[in-house]
Amino acid sequence: MDDYRRIILLDEQTIAARIKEMGREITRDHPEGDLLFVGILKGSFIFLADLVRAVDIHCEIDFARISSYGGGTVSKGQLDILLDVGARIKDRNVILVDDIVDTALTLSQYKDVLASREPRSLRTAALIDKTERRETELDLDYRGFHVESGFLVGFGLDCAEQYRNLSGIYTLEKI
Ligand code: IMP
Ligand code: MG
Repeated sequence: MDDYRRIILLDEQTIAARIKEMGREITRDHPEGDLLFVGILKGSFIFLADLVRAVDIHCEIDFARISSYGGGTVSKGQLDILLDVGARIKDRNVILVDDIVDTALTLSQYKDVLASREPRSLRTAALIDKTERRETELDLDYRGFHVESGFLVGFGLDCAEQYRNLSGIYTLEKI
C-alpha cells in the first residue's frame, strides 16, 4: 500500500466563513421558503449540517446515496442509486448538495432524476468545485471553493472511508 501525506488546503475557520456566506445566498434566493435539501451520502453530511444551520428559512432535509467511486479514487461514471430520496419533490424548492464535484457525472445525472419529478425549483450546491476532470456540464448554483485538481480529504471527504472526521480539508499526496 502506498504512503500518503496530507497537506492543509482549507482550515476550519476559512470553511466556516464560506459556508455562512453560502447560507446567506440560499436564504436570499428562497424568499418563498418550502426548501428541501437533498444531501448525497456520505460525503455531504458535515457540509450539509453546517449549511442548513447557516440558512434562515424553514427547511426539510433528506438524503440520497449514490455510488460513483467504489473503494478507489477514479470515478466509474455510471449512476448507481443505492438510496433514493424519500421526500416529495413535486412543486418543492429543492437544493441538491454534495461535498465535491469532480467529473460532475454524479450530480448532473441525479439532478436529471430529480428534475423528472417536477420540482418548483432545483438548484445545486457543493463545497468544492474541482474542475480539471469535468466530463459533463454542470452549472453549480452555490459553490464553496474552486480547485483545479488533486485528491482532497477531510470535512466529510474520504479516501477509502478514511479522513472524513478531519476539521479541515487536505490534499492527499503520494510520498
Ligand atoms: P463526480 O461524479 O466525478 O463529480 O464525483 C463526485 C463524487 O466523487 C463526490 O460525491 C465525492 O464523494 C467523490 N470525490 C470526487 N473527488 C473527490 C476527492 O478529491 N476526494 C474525495 N472524494 C471525491
Ligand atoms: Mg460523495
